[in-house]
Amino acid sequence: MKTIFSGIQPSGMLTIGNYIGAMKQFVELQNDYNCYFCIVDEHAITVPQDRLKLRQNIRSLAALYLASGIDPEKSTLFIQSEVPAHTQLGWMMQCVSYVGELERMTQYKDKSKKQEAVTAGLLTYPPLMAADILLYNTDIVPVGDDQKQHIELTRDLAERFNKKYNDIFTVPEPRIPETGARIMSLQNPEKKMSKSDDNQKASIFMLDDEKQIEKKIKSAVTDSEGVVKYDPENKPGVSNLLTIYTSFSDYSIQELEHKYEGKGYGEFKQDLAQVVIEGIKPIQQRYIDLIESDELDEILDMGAEKASLVAEKTLRKAKKAMGLGRVKSKKYEK
Ligand code: TYM
Repeated sequence: MKTIFSGIQPSGMLTIGNYIGAMKQFVELQNDYNCYFCIVDEHAITVPQDRLKLRQNIRSLAALYLASGIDPEKSTLFIQSEVPAHTQLGWMMQCVSYVGELERMTQYKDKSKKQEAVTAGLLTYPPLMAADILLYNTDIVPVGDDQKQHIELTRDLAERFNKKYNDIFTVPEPRIPETGARIMSLQNPEKKMSKSDDNQKASIFMLDDEKQIEKKIKSAVTDSEGVVKYDPENKPGVSNLLTIYTSFSDYSIQELEHKYEGKGYGEFKQDLAQVVIEGIKPIQQRYIDLIESDELDEILDMGAEKASLVAEKTLRKAKKAMGLGRVKSKKYEK
C-alpha cells in the first residue's frame, strides 16, 4: 500500500480553502493509502505566534481533522513537535539545502515581506517540510497549489541526499486536486484565501456561524456583469464562488452555470451560502463533541507513538548514511 503524508499549520483557524484544497482529499484518500496527517506546529513558529493562541489552534486543528472525517483507525494523526525526529532530520536536510534555492521559494519571499524581522526558520522552513515527508517513506503528498514548489524542492533534496550519501529516501509526488487547489480571497480574488488574512471578510472559517457565512458570501467581490460564468481570467470573483459551490455540492461547474442562467448574483450567492452552511454544519457539530474530549488526547498520543516508530527508523538510516554518531554494536540496533 502506498503512503501519504500531509500537514496543516495551526497558524490560525482553518478556512474553507484548506478544507477544499487539502482536508477534503485527505478524507477520501485514507481509504486507499497508508496515511499520516500532521499538525505542523513547528512550522507555525517560523512567524510570531501567541503562545496560548497557538496551543488553542493546535487542539482545534486536531479536532477539525477528526470532525472532517479523518478516522484514527485508518490514518495516523499527530502533532509534529511530539515526534522529535522531524526537527532532527530537518537539521540534516538543511545541511543538504542551498541558501540560494531557499531564497527563491515564493512562500519565503511573500512571508518575509510581511515580517519586520525575518527569522532564520522562515528561510529554512522547506528543509523541515522535506523532513516531514521523507521520514515516512511517502509516495504521495496531497496539497493545494501553493505547496507545489515546496514538494518540488523536497524531491530535489531527496534525490541529492540519495546520490550523495545513500539511497534511502522515497522521492514523493505531489497530488493537487483538479478543482479547488487554489480557493481565492472573497475580498480580493487575485489573492489566495488564507488563515492569516487580516481582513476577516476575505476568508470563511470552518467554525464561522451561519450569519457570518451569509454575510461574507453576500459581500464577496464579483463584477458588474451579472452573469454566472466560469472565467477565472475575466471573472475571478464569480469563478471562485463557482469553485466553492461545486466543491460543496454534487453540481458540476457547467451545471451551475446552466442553473443560474439569466439569474443575478443575489440568488446565486444566497444558494451558495446555504450549500456551504449545510456542508460544514455536521463538521462543526462533531467538532463541539471532540474539542474538550479525552478521546482527542488519546488519539493524538497514539498517533505520536505510531509516527515515532516509523520516523525513528528513517532517522537512524539517515544518520548512518551521513556518518553521524557512533557505529553501534548490533545488540543496540533495533
Ligand atoms: P498550510 O497550513 O498553509 O495549508 C494547509 C493545506 O491547505 C492548502 N491550502 C489551500 N488550498 C486551496 N485553496 C487555498 N486558498 C488554500 N490555502 C491553503 C495548502 O496547499 C495545504 O495543502 N507548508 C504547508 C504545511 C506543511 C506540509 C508539510 C504540507 C508542512 N509540512 C508536509 C504537506 C507535507 C502549509 O503551510 O500549509
